[in-house]
Amino acid sequence: EQNEKDSLYIVLNYANEYFKKQLLETDEGKSIGLSYFKERGYDAPIIEKFQLGYSQSAWDSLLQDATKNAYNEDLLEKAGLIVRKEGDKKYDRFRGRVIFPIHNVTGKVVAFGARTLKKDDKPKYLNSPESDVYHKSKILYGLYQAKGAIRQQDNCYLVEGYTDVISLHQSDIENVVSSSGTSLTDEQIKLISRFSQNITVLFDGDAAGMKASLRGIDMILEAGMNVRVVVFPEGEDPDSYSKKLGTSEFKAFLKEHTTDFISFKTSLYAEESARDPLKKAESIKEIVSSIGKIPDGIKRAVYLKESSKLLDIDESVLVAELNKILIKDR
Ligand code: GTP
Ligand code: MN
Ligand code: MN
Ligand code: MN
Ligand code: MN
Repeated sequence: EQNEKDSLYIVLNYANEYFKKQLLETDEGKSIGLSYFKERGYDAPIIEKFQLGYSQSAWDSLLQDATKNAYNEDLLEKAGLIVRKEGDKKYDRFRGRVIFPIHNVTGKVVAFGARTLKKDDKPKYLNSPESDVYHKSKILYGLYQAKGAIRQQDNCYLVEGYTDVISLHQSDIENVVSSSGTSLTDEQIKLISRFSQNITVLFDGDAAGMKASLRGIDMILEAGMNVRVVVFPEGEDPDSYSKKLGTSEFKAFLKEHTTDFISFKTSLYAEESARDPLKKAESIKEIVSSIGKIPDGIKRAVYLKESSKLLDIDESVLVAELNKILIKDR
């Protein structure tokens, strides 16, 4: 209930302050954590803005400090900050990692993402477990820092990871959120729609991930929102590519490569079916199924016309296919 949630917010806020202090004021934090962030190009203002931190490599550094400050172990465990092993052994969940605090939309810290600094250490990112204040399907990383800009720009960039969000801010683009590597949920889409009806998805440049994300995007269409996409070059993500190009070239790249989602998907399939006519029927079904998700009839009509051109197929064929889908669903 509310009391328990409030206690969680308090201990999470304490831990956030603790991690920040470790990063900026301890020898280990400065020599390992801070120099890692510097290497990634993060300056002091951006570290402050995202409240980045560091967790000491010792087994129980946070646990000891929290105990000194009278936080009880049950609460620390519920908040996901400490882990209990058999024999009642306790230790810090996050050790020797840089810390990305995750805020809810009102700015309260609800969880942490923690990145290893060792090359082949697994997992690369360790996240807080779910709690009464952290349901990961209902949280978007960076939304707290982005909401004003999303409203102002009337567009929300959606990226894969924490570092993509932060690097875009460093490139002067503040309307950006991340679903932290998982596929987008309806609750997350609703959160964004409070601030804008336009989403631009920035895909990491690996083909495998892309076709998987295509399906998730249908959910955004179903919510009646407008979707655009930008595909990054092979091997690049928004973080790496913004650094490669620098702020103004990166902004120009985004402007030039933003494509309407349906048109993008249609050209993708059109290319495949041009090479393989047998694929054409499958492509038509794929695209019409996306168009069928759009609640607005006028928008659907516009897309049907455009897709018929791109696929080089009579519009009436697409309309017939669409009607089949619409009858089945309603
Ligand atoms: P860097 O390697 O630091 O640049 O991170 P990245 O954000 O580019 O990582 P990647 O593209 O591999 O993954 C995108 C997002 O998925 C990350 O920001 C995390 O939120 C999440 N993610 C990646 N690896 C893991 C993992 O091992 N465990 C969990 N829980 N999440 C992960
Ligand atoms: Mn719950
Ligand atoms: Mn990726
Ligand atoms: Mn990435
Ligand atoms: Mn990356």
